[in-house]
Amino acid sequence: MSETSARAAPVRVWDLPVRLVHWLLLPLIAFSWWSAEEGRLDWHRLSGYSVLGLVLFRILWGLVGSQTARLAPLLAGPGAISRYFKKAGLETRAPVVGHNPLGGWSVLAMLALLAAQTVLGLFAVDVDGIESGPLAVFVSFETGRVAAAIHEITFNVILGLVVLHVGAIAYYAVFKRDNLVGPMITGRKALAGVAAPKLAPLWLAIILAIMAGGVVYAVTKSFWAF
Ligand code: HEM
Repeated sequence: MSETSARAAPVRVWDLPVRLVHWLLLPLIAFSWWSAEEGRLDWHRLSGYSVLGLVLFRILWGLVGSQTARLAPLLAGPGAISRYFKKAGLETRAPVVGHNPLGGWSVLAMLALLAAQTVLGLFAVDVDGIESGPLAVFVSFETGRVAAAIHEITFNVILGLVVLHVGAIAYYAVFKRDNLVGPMITGRKALAGVAAPKLAPLWLAIILAIMAGGVVYAVTKSFWAF
C-alpha cells in the first residue's frame, strides 16, 4: 500500500532486515579485523562466516525484499547521478526515499567487496599451511596463498570505502542538515510529499535468512566433499 503526504510525516524508509544487517556488519567487521590481528583464527572464521551469511541474505533480500532494499534500482546511470546533484544543489534537502544515486553505487561496491572478501577467506591458506579456510582443500597451496593475499588487500579497500561512507554521512549531517543515521536506527524519516515505499513481509526475510544460513553452513562444512 502506498500513501502520499504533503506535510513532513514519518515514512518507514528502511525495514528491519536492512537495519539489522547494517548494524550487525559493523561489530562483525571490527571483530574480524581484531581476531585476525590477534591470530585467533577460530574466532576469525566464525565472524567471517557470519559476515558471509549476512551479505548473502542482503543480496537475496535485495532481489525480492522491500522497495528500498532492492539492489537493481541502485544501478543508476551517470544521467540520474547528475540530475540528483543538480536538484540537491538547488535545495538544502532533496527528499530521497532509500539511497541517492551515488550512495547506491557505494552500497553495491561495499556488498560486492564484502562478498569477495568472505569468499576469498574460504579459500585462503596461511604461510605454513596450518590455518586455512574450509574450501582451501579444493585449491592448490599457491592459489590459497594468492586468495589470502587478496583477502588482506580487499580488507583495506573495504576500510577505505567505510571511511568514505561515514564521511558522506557526516557531510549530509553538517552541510545539508540531513540526519541519515537516525533513519538507519529507527527505520523512519520525516519526509513531505513522497510515497511510502512498499515493504516486504518479515516471514519472507526469515525464510531467506534460513536459506542464507543453510548455504553458509553447507559451504563451511564442505558437504560436497562427501
Ligand atoms: C563496517 C562498517 C560499515 C559498513 C560495511 C556499512 C555498510 C552499509 C551499507 C551496505 C549500507 C546500505 C544499507 C543497505 O541498503 O543494506 C549502509 C547504509 C548506511 N550506513 Fe553504513 N556501514 C558501515 C558503517 C556505518 C557507520 C559507522 C554509520 C554511522 C555513522 C553508518 C551509517 C549508515 C547510514 C546512515 C546508512 C544509510 C545511508 C542512506 O541514507 O543512503 N554506517 N551502510
